Amino acid sequence: MAISMGKGSVGVLTGVFIASLAVVVAVLLLRTYNLPELKVAWKGKGAPRIELEEDEREQLYEALKGALRIPTVSFSPSEQNTTALEEFKEYIKSAFPRVFNSSLVEYELVGGYSHLFNVQGSDNSLLPYMLLAHLDVVPATPEGWDLPPFSGEEKDGYIYGRGSLDDKSRVIDVAAQSGRTLFGVLIGLHFTLPKGILQALEFLFKKGYKPRRSFYIGLGHDEEISGRHGAKEIVKTLETRNVKLEYLLDEGFGVLDGVIYGTKRPIALIGVTEKGAITLNLTVNSPPGHSSMPPRESSIGILSAALSRLEQDQMPNRFGKGPEGAMFEQLADEFYFPLNIVMANLWLFGPLVSRILQRTPSGNALVRTTTALTIFNAGIKSNVIPQTARATVNFRIHPAETVNEVLKAMNTTIMDDRVIPSSDVPFFDPPSISPHDEETFGYQTVKRSITDVFLVEPVAPGVSIGNTASIYKFRALVIKDEDLSRFHGINERISKEGIETVVQFYFQLIQNSDTDIVPVQSHLEL
Ligand SMILES: *[C@@H]1O[C@H](CO)[C@@H](O)[C@H](O)[C@H]1NC(C)=O
Ligand SMILES: *[C@@H]1O[C@H](CO)[C@@H](O)[C@H](O)[C@H]1NC(C)=O
Ligand SMILES: *[C@@H]1O[C@H](CO)[C@@H](O)[C@H](O)[C@H]1NC(C)=O
Ligand SMILES: *[C@@H]1O[C@H](CO)[C@@H](O)[C@H](O)[C@H]1NC(C)=O
Repeated sequence: MAISMGKGSVGVLTGVFIASLAVVVAVLLLRTYNLPELKVAWKGKGAPRIELEEDEREQLYEALKGALRIPTVSFSPSEQNTTALEEFKEYIKSAFPRVFNSSLVEYELVGGYSHLFNVQGSDNSLLPYMLLAHLDVVPATPEGWDLPPFSGEEKDGYIYGRGSLDDKSRVIDVAAQSGRTLFGVLIGLHFTLPKGILQALEFLFKKGYKPRRSFYIGLGHDEEISGRHGAKEIVKTLETRNVKLEYLLDEGFGVLDGVIYGTKRPIALIGVTEKGAITLNLTVNSPPGHSSMPPRESSIGILSAALSRLEQDQMPNRFGKGPEGAMFEQLADEFYFPLNIVMANLWLFGPLVSRILQRTPSGNALVRTTTALTIFNAGIKSNVIPQTARATVNFRIHPAETVNEVLKAMNTTIMDDRVIPSSDVPFFDPPSISPHDEETFGYQTVKRSITDVFLVEPVAPGVSIGNTASIYKFRALVIKDEDLSRFHGINERISKEGIETVVQFYFQLIQNSDTDIVPVQSHLEL
């Protein structure tokens, strides 16, 4: 009897199960193949593409090589090659005479070595925008390079230059400071970009261009080591002058070609927020003593235990609480089957995706506040119990969390008030997410310029894992899988085609910014 009843129930249950499965599958497919169209219809034509003449191309390569030969290295937070920074000042004046000569340009030095340009537009009713880049680089030694890092030499269509990150402590230190990490890529070719902006303006002036919308160009000199005197001074300068910006574009991301696993085409990502940061010293003091009569717990032991708890007990996985969830959903179409279904249905697969992401350091950085132990110091003599042990821990805060939440969680994890936190560097909450909807002029202008130049449609907002104050982040470079192997900075190089693309991007962006045409959603245009 029980069995026969069971049989009937099984039949019903199976039916219900199959029906629900069908509904789930239908929802999955609907969501996968019916995602809202993200296209924007502009009411006017985009800026005409400007092609470079042969001699201009040569000029461009030479200007880049010249810049790469100036080692504007930031060695440590307090040490930069100021000789090179001085040289760079003179260099840009000679390489971009029209920029420095134009009656439309106001130029000033900020913080000693940073550069601020104000390019006057003809229409004062339009809010200005700002392009931000930096000119300092991380150190490089020639070992392992095909061509020396500061030679600016050319090989097989690539110009080599200035590396980064060869000695390991530098890697950690500098990478932690500048945070140019994305899916495990450390992209160091920023030298080309400040140059790219000035080069584009130089050529535009040569072609008789006069902007409608005013804009600023800011080139910071100490981004690699905090930006305290460069970019931040530039921003402060503008603030004290009460300058309001329509948008600000800083370096970050790029066009990722084969970098995100399972995608069909190159994907351009624009950063719309970044992670916050906390850097703390944790100190334990205990009475010093001789190693012949050790205390039950030493400063080293207490601190090590606390650090071990911090490392084991990571902050929670926040996948989907920040913009990274929307990013994957927007990109769903770009993934191969069946990943497209997975990405379009994060309501169901979110937990699975988040668990897969956290397995790699780069994916993990995307889904949570990371905890990195970076410095450990204690002891001087083999037979002395040290009085003090000190370590440094660096948190990168997920956009869904705050400085206070992280500090509280850290307290709970350490649970030992003999471990005393202190810091002499400011903490940063993650900045609020910059608007990136259809009506936002800045976002749509950047997006349109990317489409003009790279001919890629999808431009999803991403979280930048860096640390500088900015609004949108995009780097006009195609980053391929093979570039990943250069992520230690050895043989850093750029193709000649790539350099031209950087300049083309700024041609488009500067001209597209002159339009006051507001983008409209395509479905409103019936
Ligand atoms: C600093 O830059 C100058 C060139 O501007 C170069 O000659 C010098 O070797 C550099 N110093 C270091 C320590 O790299
Ligand atoms: C403008 O640039 C030209 C070179 O292109 C130079 O000869 C001239 O002296 C510059 N004028 C000013 C006012 O700097
Ligand atoms: C952490 O705990 C200490 C006491 O152990 C307390 O003084 C401090 O305010 C706490 N900080 C936070 C952020 O909770
Ligand atoms: C940690 O302490 C050292 C030595 O006092 C200091 O140089 C360093 O700046 C401190 N770091 C932080 C993050 O406060």
